[in-house]
Amino acid sequence: MRVILLGPPGAGKGTQAGMIAEKYHVPQISTGDILREEVKIESELGKQAKSYMDKGELVPDKLIIDIIVKQLDEDDSGNGYIMDGFPRTVNQAVAFASALSERGEQVDRVISIEVERDELIRRLNGRRTCTECGVRYHIHFDPPRKEGVCNECGTKLIPRDDDSEETVPNRLEVYRKQTEPLIDYYKGSGVFEAVDGVGSIEEIFKRVEKALEG
Ligand code: AP5
Repeated sequence: MRVILLGPPGAGKGTQAGMIAEKYHVPQISTGDILREEVKIESELGKQAKSYMDKGELVPDKLIIDIIVKQLDEDDSGNGYIMDGFPRTVNQAVAFASALSERGEQVDRVISIEVERDELIRRLNGRRTCTECGVRYHIHFDPPRKEGVCNECGTKLIPRDDDSEETVPNRLEVYRKQTEPLIDYYKGSGVFEAVDGVGSIEEIFKRVEKALEG
């Protein structure tokens, strides 16, 4: 199962990707998580990526495509994977299609999670993330059992740097300009499914399952 999850910031890509990975036993490949890890360890890639991420801009295609090709080579991806946050530009999609075709593979499903702007802002404002294991929560919609503390590892939860009031509008605009064109790119491919992303996390997962299995 080779799946791409598309959707604006806060649509629930990471939340749903985690659930798909668990149910279907496929790895979740999140370019955002990979980049945040590189920033944390202050690698050369992390230093380059940070300046873009802090402003809510996309990291240059070349850096991202290198990450993905490395993942495809390294990962035990025989069973497939869930791409969470990749591709993000038509250039990335073209490069990905070509890397897959070299391996005799193709994408099985592209699922676009659709949520309107006000709800995205509510979700990003209330998101809290574990600094240790990366699990995400929402202060109202998906709270941890103990306020401010990760259920999984007991570490403190914090807002993501790029969820600030200054950065979110630019992330939404960057999505509209650079990532939304991917919907048209994939629409004619026969593997594209749009899913209504408003409702409870479980309700949306049911729609995602239907899109995957239908
Ligand atoms: P990335 O980490 O990919 O961020 P994003 O796409 O902006 O998406 P988010 O992680 O913010 O949201 P999400 O859709 O995963 O929602 P979530 O499940 O957390 O990228 C970060 C940055 O890295 C980019 O800005 C860019 O700089 C760089 N980057 C990454 N990939 C790149 C690429 N390919 N090319 C170039 N640059 C790249 O949910 C959000 C919140 O809502 C959570 O609190 C959650 O608990 C809650 N929630 C989820 N579902 C529901 C629901 N149904 N109802 C209510 N609340 C819900």
